[in-house]
Amino acid sequence: MADKPETPPATLWSRRDAVRRSGWAMVWSSITVAVVGAIRLLYPRVHFLPPTTVVLGSPDQFAVDEIATKWKKSHNLIVVRNAKGFYALRAICTHLGCIPNWKPAEDKFKCPCHGSGFRRTGIHFEGPAPRPLERLKIFLDEEGQLVVDTAVRFGQEKGEWDRKDAFLPYKARRGRSEA
Ligand code: FES
Repeated sequence: MADKPETPPATLWSRRDAVRRSGWAMVWSSITVAVVGAIRLLYPRVHFLPPTTVVLGSPDQFAVDEIATKWKKSHNLIVVRNAKGFYALRAICTHLGCIPNWKPAEDKFKCPCHGSGFRRTGIHFEGPAPRPLERLKIFLDEEGQLVVDTAVRFGQEKGEWDRKDAFLPYKARRGRSEA
């Protein structure tokens, strides 16, 4: 009499179960990857830099020969208007980075740290500062507002004060005094 074929020993999962389970595992892992990818799309990896532009308002609010220090504390920025137009000085001493003060009686900027002096143009003339104050990009926006970009600097020693945005030519509108 022939022996009965041996039945395979019972295992925890049959082969069919194992295939089915691994299929589902692949489906769920694909779904998980897709969901995580979709969520990451909602948060683009972009560096949001703080805005570096400062809107100063109408250029006509500045008198000719005015030294405007209103934005010195908040943006290290001083705006100067002369008979030909505007320039913006970076209010950081070129010696070791202190904040110079405007001294109207002496017509100069004076650094409180080691005594460097700068003319209203930004040119250094006394003390240890090795070079003039930097100028900042200044321009008019589409609405005619005066704007300074504190991220764009111009060094006199590099010949950059002659660049287009280092000085904004501007004439007073009619009827305005240029006192
Ligand atoms: Fe201005 Fe030294 S930091 S003179």
